[in-house]
Amino acid sequence: MNQAMWADNKTQSNIQELKRSDVLVLGPESGAQACGEVGLGRLLDINEIIALTSKLFSRGELSGKKVLITAGPTREAIDPVRYISNHSSGRQGYALAIAAMEAGADVILISGPTQLAPPDRISLIDVVSARNMHEAVMSNIENCDIFIGVAAVADFRPSHYTEQKIKKHGQDIAHIELTLNPDIVASVANAKPKPFTVGFAAETENLDVYAKEKLIKKNLDMVIANDVSDARIGFNSEDNATTIFWEGGQSILPLMSKQQISIKIINLIAEQLK
Ligand code: PMT
Repeated sequence: MNQAMWADNKTQSNIQELKRSDVLVLGPESGAQACGEVGLGRLLDINEIIALTSKLFSRGELSGKKVLITAGPTREAIDPVRYISNHSSGRQGYALAIAAMEAGADVILISGPTQLAPPDRISLIDVVSARNMHEAVMSNIENCDIFIGVAAVADFRPSHYTEQKIKKHGQDIAHIELTLNPDIVASVANAKPKPFTVGFAAETENLDVYAKEKLIKKNLDMVIANDVSDARIGFNSEDNATTIFWEGGQSILPLMSKQQISIKIINLIAEQLK
């Protein structure tokens, strides 16, 4: 409405009456008006209305928390046409980001290359390599309450990037020397102050033993183990099943969709923060 109509005593006393009756009033915002005047009275931006309205339906366990999540694979370039990567689809990381957002958190999702649509109401930062992901995480970690490392980060990258496409020479075998990538979740776990740090363990054998080792070695607060030798779960599947460990406790989440398991994981994390 026009700024003078908005400022009018009768409008304002009606608005106050609505607020007293617990009616949520969104806006108005200030700016140029159709009549040429400038002031309060404009409809809020639609995205802001969606964000504010959706908070009404938030489950609230993580309300006020800042959550940083990594998802998807990383790509480690060999030459302009080839790279080393893995089968992560990003589904588990995106599902966790949505579950955290629906629990009321402000979520930043740092994602390697995936085929997934950017989720609404989540800040998405696209990266390619492990080093890109490490840099994006460390420059967003400040004031972060929870970090969840879901990405399948390549442990190694080629030591040398070859500027031109590597050519085949007869039957010669090409050797690619590898260098260790930075460990992102371990860097976060050593940050000061340290957010509540959750890592995943993608294992094909000795699931519990290796996951508990990662909990200690990487200084994690929680580790989520999934058996990636089972095609129904883990990489590029719709479902997952996990065993979750933290100091002094564990929880088994049987086979269910990545969306359902994410809600349960977020509940467990919220429990630990109490
Ligand atoms: O994306 P989807 O298709 O849905 O598949 C989901 C998933 C199988 C990728 C996911 O559930 C999962 O297990 N993610 C972790 C994959 C992994 O790299 O696991 P890891 O055990 O190698 O690494 C342990 C932890 O260290 C992980 O939290 C990982 O993000 C982190 N890490 C690893 C290496 C590295 N350089 N930096 C890291 O932060």
